[in-house]
Amino acid sequence: AGSAVGLGNIWRFPTEAGNNGGGAFLLVYILCVVLMGVPLMVAEFAVGRHSRANTGSAFRILSKRRSWGLLGKMEVLAAFLILAYYSVVAGWTLYYAFQSLLNRFNVMARQGDSSVFADNFNSFVSDPWLPLLCLAAFLFATHFVVVRGVKSGIERSSKILMPFLFLLMVVLVVCALTTPGAAKGLEFFFTPDFSKIDSGVVMSAMAQAFYSLSLGMGCMCTYASYFKRDANITKTAFTVGLMDMSVAVMAGIVIFPAVFSVPGLEPDAGPSLVFIALPNVFQMAMGGIPAMAYVCSLAFYVLLVVATLTSTISLHEVVTAYLSETRNMPRRRAAWYVTGGSLVLGIFCSLSLGVLSGMTVAGMTIFDLFDYVTAKIMLLAAGFLTSVFVGWVLKPHALANELTNWGTLKLRCFSVLVFMLRYVVPLIIAGVFLDGLGLLNIL
Ligand code: PHE
Repeated sequence: AGSAVGLGNIWRFPTEAGNNGGGAFLLVYILCVVLMGVPLMVAEFAVGRHSRANTGSAFRILSKRRSWGLLGKMEVLAAFLILAYYSVVAGWTLYYAFQSLLNRFNVMARQGDSSVFADNFNSFVSDPWLPLLCLAAFLFATHFVVVRGVKSGIERSSKILMPFLFLLMVVLVVCALTTPGAAKGLEFFFTPDFSKIDSGVVMSAMAQAFYSLSLGMGCMCTYASYFKRDANITKTAFTVGLMDMSVAVMAGIVIFPAVFSVPGLEPDAGPSLVFIALPNVFQMAMGGIPAMAYVCSLAFYVLLVVATLTSTISLHEVVTAYLSETRNMPRRRAAWYVTGGSLVLGIFCSLSLGVLSGMTVAGMTIFDLFDYVTAKIMLLAAGFLTSVFVGWVLKPHALANELTNWGTLKLRCFSVLVFMLRYVVPLIIAGVFLDGLGLLNIL
């Protein structure tokens, strides 16, 4: 859950939902989590725990084929690329936590003009230095945790802190419902317009489901390689899926009312959406009591930093474990390569939102390109191949062994899972891809 709950829920989900028509996207996303996300998570857990190896080696060890090893390597590469641009946004959360600490949002709100939060965000991201400084700070914090192996510390503290984040999301939901745009926002988020569902929306929703559940990039597989033998994989996958989905849905209930309350802000504003809409929520609901607004916004951003840190750690760990286990290097050195590499790539991603914004590939900034290639191509390809691997290549008794270690064999449950992995997941992914390419005409 530490890996799964993060910016994917609170930042990327509302951004994607806003770009893809709101209610229609939510519906498809929920279906994707239940029908594909949870079975795939079980599959990744099984691969990780059965092989007891890093993702780059796990598929090869289990299949004894080099070619399947490429799947693991692609997942590690996806984790590395995601770490680079995810850390840019992670840096933004750090900046916002500082701004809250310095009471900047209360001061801004007193200026009375709602465009002040948009100006604040835009001048921050287009600054040539500040976002880079925040990016580096976040990456070094991640590096420190991964190298020191203080994972147990962060695990314990996130177990305590995450319920608070959940609680604050509930507070935020209540605040958001009092904003003037609440009705419009909820209508946008909860009324599915079926005519909007096309292959692009389904692809985005599927990618978002995988991204948010940390699937297709080796995180769940790597973490499962550290699981105890008696950990109940199926139950864990359901719990994580449910938790992750509820945080994302709450984020939507918070963001869209805010979006429709702020003049000039549109749901399809892109990556800036959440960072402009969120500070408004506390101010609109609690502006009359500045102390409350101060405490809540500070607590929220600090908790968001922690949730984000547990996600960047999991991404970093995938690549570090791979390098140190396969290249025979000490973990410390492996971790430096990962941190250094993602810092360099992250700098380009960050600058592409400011001084390098004119540099585009296929109409996308470098930042958008990283997101597109990883989430919509690599993760979906990895999801397809993982389900084929566990459904068809992995020996059924190996899977059964991983799933039934806690007691009786839940046979019906098992056959449903195998059916999903063999047919449903791969066919849906392949269908959406072909439809997107214009080769099928279903959607
Ligand atoms: N799932 C995490 C989130 O929702 C992000 C993440 C993506 C973590 C990819 C690991 C790998 O924020």
